[in-house]
Amino acid sequence: MLFDEIATVTANQKLGPGLYLMTLKAPRCALEIQPGQFVHMMISTNPAHVLRRPFSVYAVDARTELIDVLYQVVGSGTFEMTKWQAGTRTAVVAPVGRGWSPPYNARRALLIGGGVGAAPLYMLCNQLLDKGADVDVVLGAATADCLVCLDRYFDLRKPGLRVLHTTDDGSAGAQGFCTELAEDALALAARTGKRYDYVAACGPEPMMRIATGLAKLYGIPCEVSLERRMACGIGACLSCVVDTVEGKKRACVDGPVFDIRELPW
Ligand SMILES: Cc1cc2nc3c(=O)[nH]c(=O)nc-3n(C[C@H](O)[C@H](O)[C@H](O)COP(=O)(O)OP(=O)(O)OC[C@H]3O[C@@H](n4cnc5c(N)ncnc54)[C@H](O)[C@@H]3O)c2cc1C
Ligand code: FES
Repeated sequence: MLFDEIATVTANQKLGPGLYLMTLKAPRCALEIQPGQFVHMMISTNPAHVLRRPFSVYAVDARTELIDVLYQVVGSGTFEMTKWQAGTRTAVVAPVGRGWSPPYNARRALLIGGGVGAAPLYMLCNQLLDKGADVDVVLGAATADCLVCLDRYFDLRKPGLRVLHTTDDGSAGAQGFCTELAEDALALAARTGKRYDYVAACGPEPMMRIATGLAKLYGIPCEVSLERRMACGIGACLSCVVDTVEGKKRACVDGPVFDIRELPW
């Protein structure tokens, strides 16, 4: 069930060009948020921002009651957030939306994250590893200094985890797009009989469309997390509609994670 709680910023640091990591003390959210769900955050320090902004939860620590949000500055709301310091308080509605639903018996997963799309996959990665699945993560970014989630994935150091990365300019990892490495991984898995049984992708929509095509080609269950502009965040305003094979659905309550079988891609 949705709730609205006052969260307090404990840290807000720049990680890369236009990329910030905000940590918030949000006890109830830290307890209840599930991988792939998001918070709808008020831009509390500027009343001109009437609408809340949606952000996926990157990481959570129920013990310390902290949640992390990785955000990219794209407009006035996210720019306002860069000014927040430890102690800033804001209201967050949580846990919003339908998160990831990997098959309950997934043994081998491929997670594909482009840009800040690496963040909403992190909790899923942890969850799959904790259930004993092998997880290959392929992260892509424009340049090395935009690969701001990479170390955190490496630091998981859990058995079964493999992390690969690409940059558009070749400044770190393989040069190219993360979908190219994902395609190689899927082809290798098919050749060697070590088939993936789940693919999840998050990032720019063209990237997710390619990931969807690959998953369909290899016949693997796949989910993607869609971004839409949101207003109410509770399914009432229809500003976030997504065209699906069953008609229009709302990304805020029917998503943001969709099974690719629902999408006419
Ligand atoms: C479910 C969900 C989860 C998200 N998670 C994250 C996250 O973890 N990290 C992150 O950096 N961003 C995330 N976003 C996107 C984030 O909500 C927007 O970037 C933010 O609301 C922009 O606010 P603004 O005031 O800075 O920009 P605005 O001034 O409102 O807009 C600036 C530009 O950003 C575009 N934009 C604004 N809102 C969205 C949106 N919801 N989706 C796509 N484009 C948008 C606008 O079209 C415009 O071009 C998520 C969006 C959704 C729907
Ligand atoms: S944001 Fe209002 S219906 Fe989704």
